[in-house]
Amino acid sequence: MAHFIGSQSRRSFIKNVGVTALAGATGAGAATNANAQSAHNARSYNGPFDFDTVYSRVGTNCSRWDGPPQNYPDGVFKYGMGVASMDFECAPCITDALQERIAHHNYGYLTGTETLKDCIVKWNGERKGEDLHPDQIVLSDGVYPGVIAALRAFVPANERVVVTTPCYSGFYSMARGASVQTVDSPMKIVNGRYTFDFDDLETRLRAADVRALILCNPQNPTGNVWKRDELLQLGRLCLENNVIVLSDEIHCDVIRAGHKFTPFASLPDQAVVNNSVSFSAISKTFSLAGMKNAFYYSKNPKLLDRVNRYHRAEISTLGVVATEAAYNHGGPWFDQVNAYMDENHTFIENYIKNNLPTVGYTRNEGTYMTFLDFSKTMAALDAEKQAKEQNARTPEHFFRDWLVFETGVYFNAGSDYGTGGEGRVRMNIASSRSVIKDVLDSIANAVNRV
Ligand SMILES: Cc1ncc(COP(=O)(O)O)c(C=O)c1O
Repeated sequence: MAHFIGSQSRRSFIKNVGVTALAGATGAGAATNANAQSAHNARSYNGPFDFDTVYSRVGTNCSRWDGPPQNYPDGVFKYGMGVASMDFECAPCITDALQERIAHHNYGYLTGTETLKDCIVKWNGERKGEDLHPDQIVLSDGVYPGVIAALRAFVPANERVVVTTPCYSGFYSMARGASVQTVDSPMKIVNGRYTFDFDDLETRLRAADVRALILCNPQNPTGNVWKRDELLQLGRLCLENNVIVLSDEIHCDVIRAGHKFTPFASLPDQAVVNNSVSFSAISKTFSLAGMKNAFYYSKNPKLLDRVNRYHRAEISTLGVVATEAAYNHGGPWFDQVNAYMDENHTFIENYIKNNLPTVGYTRNEGTYMTFLDFSKTMAALDAEKQAKEQNARTPEHFFRDWLVFETGVYFNAGSDYGTGGEGRVRMNIASSRSVIKDVLDSIANAVNRV
């Protein structure tokens, strides 16, 4: 079992120790002092790469590991399983490209980004059969700014955008950023799989003030990889009701074996495609979110023009270098990490089946999130009453904190993901297997006693 140090002491501690000591003090599992030796242990861009050795990110101003402990007494928080970034050391080609660039000591304005657009066209063409043209692509410093621009373009202030829930909590902040309202269309669980509720959607889309729908494909947090027919039906319903589809595809590369990602813009109905704008990045694929690099595109130049009027983003020099390196040389690294994360999902599914009989599980098809149902534990704890007594925002926030105090594990509260998030938590599974096992052992130890 790992013993992490609290945020305040951690900072002064970090100042005084070397990398090896830091990793030894903070990492989970046996191999935690290996950051230094594992640094770029695999120079070959074809791997094999080591994802089993725990790579400590503590003390790097990292939102996944350094954010939550600020809200708990020192020593309580141990495992950051919330924010959607990977814990693995990045692909060696990215570090190499950055090192080469920083050998030149000047970071003035960039002159052009054509090569980055070419990388986007190539990666999406080769991996997803997409037929993109650089003129259809607009670079951005995140999916957030692109979607906010699109909401401003298509939804008049205080009118509404539909989200199918549970959905990425950021959609609510994007809507706030664009001064528009959201409408939840709750999904249904049919035969253990989340599905769109088309009857509910039809009612919501018919409303006169609903102008756009944000689609999440693959869906964060439920892990759905939407099938072509589901997307077509959704797209046609939106088109019939004059509702524009904003397709957030940031998780598009993280697809489990046996599933296939369908880009919305590749659907076999041109009218449906022309009624959409897609948003994507490889920031989830390679854990490059801090490099601030994303893009959006549409097959319909009129829609693209409308979004562009509300969008202005400057991307950073190092972000371009890192992203191009990932596109050009990172494929083998990603294929291996994706297979590793697929095995993490299977490990979690089996662990829950065998050791956590009260926890509900829906099988993931993609993403490195899993959405777990703890409603039985929450009911046994009377989380609703406890939340009121302790002034917690929702019963799920009470339960999140209960877990931190009982186990040291921090998950995201299900209520942040809209209607349908009740009783749930979101777990990030992009960690070394020993961390996943320590986390689940701690959870089982606490939850099975309730
Ligand atoms: C579905 C989804 N969209 C957008 C984002 C954020 O994208 P960005 O960091 O590019 O703004 C996330 C991050 O977790 C996400 O899961």
